[in-house]
Amino acid sequence: MTSVHSTTQLPLNLEWVRATFPSVGKEWVFLDNAGGSQIAQPVIERLNQYLLTSNVQLGASYAVSQLASQRLAQANQAAAMFINAADPAEVVMGPSTSLLLRILASCLSQTFKSGDEVIVTNCDHEANITPWLELQRQGIKVKFWLLRPETLALDLVDLENLLSDKTRLVALTHASNVLGTINPIREIADLVHRSDALLCVDGVGYAPHRLIDVQAMDVDFYVFSYYKVYGPHHALLYGKHQHLLPLPSFNHSFIGKADLPYKLQPGGANYELSYSTLGILDYLEQLVPDDNALTQRDRLSYAFDSISAYEEMLSDRLLSFLLSQPQVKVIGETRCDRQIRVPTVAFTVTDVDSATVPPRLEPYHIGIRSGDFYAKRLIQDLGLAAQNGVVRVSLVHYNTLEECDRLIEQLEPLLSA
Ligand SMILES: Cc1ncc(COP(=O)(O)O)c(C=O)c1O
Repeated sequence: MTSVHSTTQLPLNLEWVRATFPSVGKEWVFLDNAGGSQIAQPVIERLNQYLLTSNVQLGASYAVSQLASQRLAQANQAAAMFINAADPAEVVMGPSTSLLLRILASCLSQTFKSGDEVIVTNCDHEANITPWLELQRQGIKVKFWLLRPETLALDLVDLENLLSDKTRLVALTHASNVLGTINPIREIADLVHRSDALLCVDGVGYAPHRLIDVQAMDVDFYVFSYYKVYGPHHALLYGKHQHLLPLPSFNHSFIGKADLPYKLQPGGANYELSYSTLGILDYLEQLVPDDNALTQRDRLSYAFDSISAYEEMLSDRLLSFLLSQPQVKVIGETRCDRQIRVPTVAFTVTDVDSATVPPRLEPYHIGIRSGDFYAKRLIQDLGLAAQNGVVRVSLVHYNTLEECDRLIEQLEPLLSA
């Protein structure tokens, strides 16, 4: 059995948690949360509140428009607090991580010159690879930082060997959406900055599980999607002010460089979805007992500490079972330690097409998924494409040990058949 951190200090009130997700605990067991999480009730309430009482264009002088403007400013400030950005102007909202990274690459590339270099990994979701690969068209060289197949981890020595005085940017994932492994972002940022390059981190696989602190990590750009963090189909891009400011505008011709974040939000960010993200914070803060001495970030930190300790138990239950099965190969970190991984667990079964596994769980109303999860290069480089990728079980804190056991019970006969 792998080691589990203590959960006695900050236990989650699981009954309350599950009751706060209206779709959880009904017919289906949702175990494909890295694909998209269920939505928390306070998010729905904020969404309704916005649409029912302030659904007008921003910036006019009449009271309802003033209220709408205030609400959007409030959402922007709260998002900055959520990730510990120094300034709300550093927070860009948009419809998806994929689109925000496209916008970033399009603008940033205009500050690059032919011969400059960008480094991407082979274990990222394609959202943080394709936009950078496209820069090859303007003469930018793209190098791949490859996962070491024997450890299934990125090695910093390999990055050091790839960095040069021409490197302008390194793009990588915080936690792989297949392997679940957490990359040491601060260490990587220090290395990248020593080469005077920028670091762009895809936090999609990490954000549902841990509190983000962009300043502590010293990242230059950081992006994640709210629909995996108990919210709506909406996304956030953080950029350090000094790096966002020189970027050209992606908005109308008369929107200037200084107009942050609006210059990177053409057409404006969706108002009601932006406002609804406040509901995520409403929810997370309620995971913490009342204590007036705590700041809002302290409370979030407590909430994610409870979440991650609990999730480690879920990982342990699942990994212990999978590791006990001789036909199963866990693809990724086999330890459940929350310092090392999030509870996104991928595996293959000897001589079994991964695509055949999830449908066999559907009669039991257990929702999991197989494939490459758009981390296509990883699946190809690990030689798993012919097997239709991996089977992935991705847990979050509203899942229970009983749900893990229900999965295990139905999975076991499939593995020995
Ligand atoms: C790790 C990771 N990065 C990026 C994305 C893309 O996010 P979006 O759907 O918001 O474009 C996903 C989506 O599954 C993902 O898992």
